[in-house]
Amino acid sequence: MNAEEKSWEIHSAEFVLSAVRRRHYPQPSLPQVAFSGRSNCGKSSLLNCLVRRRNLAKTSGKPGHTRLVNFFLVENRCHFVDLPGYGYAKAPPAEKEKWRRSTEEFLKDNPCLRLMVLLLDARRTPSELDDVLVEFLKHLRIPFLLVLTKSDKLGRAELEKSRKAIAAHYALPKGELPIATSAEKGTGREELLKRIHQSVLEKSEE
Ligand code: GTP
Ligand code: MG
Repeated sequence: MNAEEKSWEIHSAEFVLSAVRRRHYPQPSLPQVAFSGRSNCGKSSLLNCLVRRRNLAKTSGKPGHTRLVNFFLVENRCHFVDLPGYGYAKAPPAEKEKWRRSTEEFLKDNPCLRLMVLLLDARRTPSELDDVLVEFLKHLRIPFLLVLTKSDKLGRAELEKSRKAIAAHYALPKGELPIATSAEKGTGREELLKRIHQSVLEKSEE
């Protein structure tokens, strides 16, 4: 099958477990695609949209909802991983430190991680923690994909402006723009799934 041409339809997705430490991650380990981003940027909603399940990952109007590393088994062949959101202003320092440690533990020396999907609210400029995370991903040579969320909240012109601004901010290769998505409308779903599928397939077939 040519992964570049075919869009990926997901038929099965189930919650596996929530963990903080690596020793609690699911076994056997499978290729992983992780979703990370600022608190409340729409990670859990987008994950549900991708697998077409309304409430698989818990969503909330209140920021700081996802505090653990949540694993979902998708098509019995890979794990989607919902990472805790960051940058929630009201989080106590101990909570922030927990976020830093669990995220670092997940990212470092993790050969299963095929792709990190970094989500950014289309309406906001990237935060310092977004920048820190991007630098860390580059440093660890982890492939990542920038994705804008809640694109339904912007008009077409504003959205294009936001995509270009993010591409410039993170010095993406010429012509490359972040994928604009809306969990509410399903926008960008197929394109994102295609990219995820390519990453999962690539190394499994090496
Ligand atoms: P934490 O787990 O707290 O870090 O949040 P999260 O990033 O998982 O965000 P979540 O998916 O819980 O969504 C946060 C809020 O944004 C909820 O009120 C969602 O309904 C809303 N939201 C998420 N995606 C979209 C979208 O595509 N469009 C619109 N309009 N709202 C969205
Ligand atoms: Mg969440």
